[in-house]
Amino acid sequence: MASTGRDQWNSQIGFLLAAVGSAVGLGNIWRFSYMAYEHGGGAFLIPYLVALITCGIPLLALEFALGHERTGSAPLAFAKVHKKAEFFGWWPVTFVMFGIVLYYAVIIAWCLNYCIYSVSLSWGQDPNHFFFSNFLSISKSPLAFGSIRTPIVISTAVIWFLNWIIVYRGIGHGIELANKIFMPLLFLLTLFLVLWALTLKGATDGVLAYLKPDFEKIKGINVWIDAYSQIFFSLSLGFGIMIAYASYLPKKADIGKNAVLTSIMDSMFAIVAGLGVFAVLGFMANAKGLPISKIVSESIGLAFVVYPKALSIMPGGNFFGVIFFLSLVVAGISSSISIIEAFTAALIDKFNLNRKFVVTAICISGFLGSIIFTTNAGLLWLDIVDHFITHYGLVTIGIVECILGAWVFDIKRLRHHINSISSIKMPKAWDNLIKFFVPGILIINLIGDVIAEFKGAYGGYSWFALAMIGMNWMILTAILAGIFTKLPWHYEYMLETSDEK
Ligand code: ALA
Repeated sequence: MASTGRDQWNSQIGFLLAAVGSAVGLGNIWRFSYMAYEHGGGAFLIPYLVALITCGIPLLALEFALGHERTGSAPLAFAKVHKKAEFFGWWPVTFVMFGIVLYYAVIIAWCLNYCIYSVSLSWGQDPNHFFFSNFLSISKSPLAFGSIRTPIVISTAVIWFLNWIIVYRGIGHGIELANKIFMPLLFLLTLFLVLWALTLKGATDGVLAYLKPDFEKIKGINVWIDAYSQIFFSLSLGFGIMIAYASYLPKKADIGKNAVLTSIMDSMFAIVAGLGVFAVLGFMANAKGLPISKIVSESIGLAFVVYPKALSIMPGGNFFGVIFFLSLVVAGISSSISIIEAFTAALIDKFNLNRKFVVTAICISGFLGSIIFTTNAGLLWLDIVDHFITHYGLVTIGIVECILGAWVFDIKRLRHHINSISSIKMPKAWDNLIKFFVPGILIINLIGDVIAEFKGAYGGYSWFALAMIGMNWMILTAILAGIFTKLPWHYEYMLETSDEK
């Protein structure tokens, strides 16, 4: 039997926590809060929630259904839908393993550094200068690498070590156990921080700015594109993670309910964390006598510049800082392990390799790959690679999944599969969402992205740097995925299904 010996979750709650652990990550705090800020605070919640309902939940249910019904990691599940589709399973797990997680681990590493810096508020009077000049020592251009930043590379090694220990131990004893500890811990830490932030003077102004929608801001197409890519990133869609995670479920598993719960918990977490972020912005504005709009100037600087500024003037700021950055580390690791697992599962499925060997090898390569992001040009590389993978890679895979699930496989059969084992059923409308609406919206997103790309070089980088780094990254990972696809299956019977032909 093809599935004999496949790892399994010890419990359904373990699976749910792992799925939430993957979804809730830096994206919910670091990415969501700056995106919400950039797009006018509360106004961003509208496209965000629309994207969640029309695309996030339906696609998550589809990924769970594909992984569960076809019982396999992304390449195996897709190959079991259609032999020629295997490449589209390899590409995402390759670009997340040799893309997203390389810089994601470095951002978690920054958080670890900042957790320690918080104790003595090491950034002093000028957190902006500290972050960009002292800490990152950022170079002027992506092609000027400079040198490796020692404090960053050390903490990156620590993060890769933690990733390794957890994934090495497997599904039940590693990933499930880690999430059973991390998720309750993360929720408690976040709740504590948000409640504390809300008691600060001026917090209410921040929260009002966050919740009051500015409808003007959501008229532009870019806000909507960003909302859909945020949902993708946040729910770990198009990564191949949720497919692999669902493949470790027993035959009877409430995947409908888990898809809805995972999505709701992920968004609730982002929105609640946003309350804390904006409460702190309100506090800062009040303390400085400035409007909130003047408090933050650059995106990534929200966590690493604005927060430190606030911590310096907040009573007990160092304690708040330690908890804040610790919660980012916890949220980050529970997501990075899921990315590593998506790739690990694919390698084990195809080549029948030993888990311990695979995880050790890919964590060492992952650490080596992360080093580029620890150089003086690291932030610039991170920005470019993130832009290309999240805007083009994830969205493309989302479209492919819809085509595979709805047109190549059988969307009705997938819906019946979900509904036969789930307490929350997918309505008939789900078929049409996956057949037409979701791919349609994603294609519009993709076109919007391409148009925006040609309007002006992203982030003000040179076209050369964008092509060299961003586009080449996509091409190289596609080549690597092509190689994995071409290699033979260790056990051909893995591809067998019970489908009647
Ligand atoms: N879903 C993960 C995040 O939001 C990758 O950070």
